[in-house]
Amino acid sequence: MTRAHATSASLRDRLRAQLADLKMPGALEALDDVLRRSDAGELSAPTAIEQLLGAHITLRNARRLQTAMRSARLPAIKTLADFDFSFQPSVKREQLESLHTLGFIERKENVVLLGPPGVGKTHLALSLAVAAAESGRRVYFTTLADLLHSLEDAQAAGRLLPRIRTLVFPSLMIIDEIGYLPITRNGAMLFFQLMSRRYEHASTVLTSNKGFEEWGEVFGDELMAAALIDRLVHHCHIVNIRGNSFRLRQHAELARRLHQPPPQPAGRRSRRQEDPAE
Ligand SMILES: Nc1ncnc2c1ncn2[C@@H]1O[C@H](COP(=O)(O)OP(=O)(O)O)[C@@H](O)[C@H]1O
Ligand SMILES: [Mg+2]
Repeated sequence: MTRAHATSASLRDRLRAQLADLKMPGALEALDDVLRRSDAGELSAPTAIEQLLGAHITLRNARRLQTAMRSARLPAIKTLADFDFSFQPSVKREQLESLHTLGFIERKENVVLLGPPGVGKTHLALSLAVAAAESGRRVYFTTLADLLHSLEDAQAAGRLLPRIRTLVFPSLMIIDEIGYLPITRNGAMLFFQLMSRRYEHASTVLTSNKGFEEWGEVFGDELMAAALIDRLVHHCHIVNIRGNSFRLRQHAELARRLHQPPPQPAGRRSRRQEDPAE
């Protein structure tokens, strides 16, 4: 590719010092290998630069994610790459890929993931949280039940407003599991206050196993639910997942494996056991 050419020791030292000065430990770690390949003519100068910067970004994103795992309270790391679109044809890959470019956060729009249990709502909400955390944005993950507990605790301690202010701050908030547990009237009011504050100020991703038409019942107040939905859907991407539970698929697979006939002697194996997808 390029002509072999040994990097002098002094240039190598200057590069090390510069990368250390710029606090680029990922690039610093990759430097020797990149220079070796560049000296051997395996890498062009632009590719060598690209590899160094790439090493820096990879390490930086991993660190951001580690920090976010603690501060954003992400319960697990899920990514779009792990999401099997063929299992969930109602989920449009283009819509999800476009959401993962995070323009919706810039535009302060919301995302609502709706669907029955096990279809991947939390998975997709988490993968958006991971992408946002990697991009250096402040993220906060909570279930609706935990959120309401924390708001009610703050209210009881006379610190509701500061608590709400803290919760308005993250540029992405995930509120998981709307509709699973009953909500008190006070809880619904606190949630409404928070969402009114975040409205047009920062993005929220919500997941629910109940369609909007059932939210009146979930929040115990049709009017409040209508006002909430009105704000939510004003700038909103709705992902309606109509499909089968991935959990049930996993259970079914496990059950099938457990109930498989015992292995037969070589040469007499059934077709099922030879299935490469197993
Ligand atoms: N289409 C999918 N591809 C890969 N994994 C999936 C898919 N849908 C769900 N899962 C996995 O199945 C489990 C249940 O999904 P989850 O997102 O918790 O469902 P929900 O929040 O809709 O109840 C999780 O471990 C999730 O990562
Ligand atoms: Mg879930």
